[in-house]
Amino acid sequence: MSVHKPVKKITTHVLLAMKQRQEKISMLTAYDYSMARILDAAGIDILLVGDSASNVMAGHETTLPITLDHMIYHAQSVVRAIDRAFVVVDLPFGSYQGNSKEALASTIRIMKESGAHAVKMEGGVEIKESITRILSAGVPVMGHLGLTPQSIYKFGTYTVRAKEEEEAAQLLSDAKLLEELGCFAIILEKIPAKLGKQVAELVSIPVIGIGAGADVDGQVLVTHDMMGITKDFQPRFLRRYLELFDEMKEATKRYINDVKMGEFPNDKEQY
Ligand code: KIV
Repeated sequence: MSVHKPVKKITTHVLLAMKQRQEKISMLTAYDYSMARILDAAGIDILLVGDSASNVMAGHETTLPITLDHMIYHAQSVVRAIDRAFVVVDLPFGSYQGNSKEALASTIRIMKESGAHAVKMEGGVEIKESITRILSAGVPVMGHLGLTPQSIYKFGTYTVRAKEEEEAAQLLSDAKLLEELGCFAIILEKIPAKLGKQVAELVSIPVIGIGAGADVDGQVLVTHDMMGITKDFQPRFLRRYLELFDEMKEATKRYINDVKMGEFPNDKEQY
């Protein structure tokens, strides 16, 4: 049974209409062709080529080392795989914070070289000029507030953000600003559920949460966490739908054993 209205391709207009008719938006990360093909075939609404590729694909501790070239490579692989999903690409650390000209140049490279549909940027009022410049070039922008991993060394930890009144007020004001500037959606990461609900009610654009509670317009998870490919990451907001690390490890052990015992290939598996 399908849980969403059959639409050919997801666009920013479709996403806005989903919010208006209170249909929840589903979003997952993807960094490569094969995974994106599966997620798109399953009917995911948005695929995020996240800079979490820095952790998940490259094994870095933070999202800071990934480059614009790396992001474009991942985005190209994902775009080749999709028929229906809307593809958003993270502007990586260092590709937009300098000035708005640099932000636009990075965005143009992503859009031209990958064929993706939108970019995502971490921050509020401090990146206002860059957002405005990118939007004026006709590129949809998704905002990202709350825990913004590119600023991890400023925060010092990955704990829940905006628990205090002052930070919560700043987040609400940033969310309103992102809407006024013309962003098509906002990601809220790791904030109290009550604040997530407040933001979703405050703005008319879709608000997608990761650890922001149930009362937002959609949810996003890192696919490798949700499938259980990563093992050590256990935040409260994460629901694992598979334990692929263990299943793939077992399959690999069986393969190794078959090879060692001379049981692979058998008569039917050769020419
Ligand atoms: O890079 C990423 O995967 C993200 C999600 C956590 C929203 O930004």
